[in-house]
Amino acid sequence: MIDRIKEILAAVESFQPKSIEEVEEFRLKYLSKKGLIPALFDDFRNVPAEQKKEVGAEINILKQKATDKLNELKDALTVNAEGKIELDLTRPGDPFKIGSRHPLSIVRNEIISIFTRLGFIVADGPEIEDDNHNFGKLNFPQDHPARDMQDTFFISPDMNVLLRTHTSSVQAHEMSELKPPIRSLSPGRVYRNEAISARAHCLFHQIEGLYVDKNVSFADLKQTLDYFAKEMFGEHTKIRMRPSYFPFTEPSAEVDVSCTLCGGKGCNVCKGTGWLEILGCGMVDPNVFEAAGIDPEIYTGFAFGMGIERITMLKYGIRDLRLFFENDIRFLNQFTAAI
Ligand code: DAH
Repeated sequence: MIDRIKEILAAVESFQPKSIEEVEEFRLKYLSKKGLIPALFDDFRNVPAEQKKEVGAEINILKQKATDKLNELKDALTVNAEGKIELDLTRPGDPFKIGSRHPLSIVRNEIISIFTRLGFIVADGPEIEDDNHNFGKLNFPQDHPARDMQDTFFISPDMNVLLRTHTSSVQAHEMSELKPPIRSLSPGRVYRNEAISARAHCLFHQIEGLYVDKNVSFADLKQTLDYFAKEMFGEHTKIRMRPSYFPFTEPSAEVDVSCTLCGGKGCNVCKGTGWLEILGCGMVDPNVFEAAGIDPEIYTGFAFGMGIERITMLKYGIRDLRLFFENDIRFLNQFTAAI
């Protein structure tokens, strides 16, 4: 029966009428009471119970397609003086279906819009990097264990060319190529050799922030991130900073926001702590300034880096990272955005 349905569907889809009479013949042949499609519904009674679901769905699709085609043909065709049909050229075009923006793009744009209000500008950098910009200039000494924290995809056999493991590499470009003051924001893809699971992926996205000028202080960093957290997650959001280690910042901190679900009381999303980690940050290490040719006696700066997937998961309550990359329309359709 499925074959028969497919056969009729193919005929319906390829049907091209030459006259308005043929459109009527199409209706009679397929959709009228004695037409082929109602006949299929009669035969449906004899389909074995276990096939009913599949066959029923196929017949419904066929009926819908044939009905749509008939309506389309009726709308689109007019009869000219000789009784021949022609396209109605005055008819308005079919509207385009507007897709929805990817949730990661929505959140990336939102983060950018928050920081551009503070004077940050967007700076791009390459995804294929050299060791020096991904590690060396960022104060990762050769053979330093911190390099192992970032499972790197190497491209060249001498391990000099690689896929960047973080957007901090753009900092190294910015500081080497520009003169302070620098206030930049670098969104982009990063790559790590990790097994794919609900919580990890070999490809994900980060946004890096960098502010270098005279007299930039840790208080400026804290205030900037507090503003960000409130704009992103709501005005009642609190932040806390925990001491941490990154080779390119000193001192370094990890930043938590009060739980976006329970507001800090403790729930299963924040595992009862009331806090959720969102980013790493710190004051630019003097060694990083020196490697870029900026005098650390004159300038100070702060940097921060966050995972866009993580922020998006917290904002929308998404539990599985893989959803972002599977392009399932049912998932993606749910997101709408002004930006
Ligand atoms: N690059 C770090 C990572 O991928 C994140 C980070 C931490 C960026 C501290 C920073 C920073 O700029 O100051 O885990």
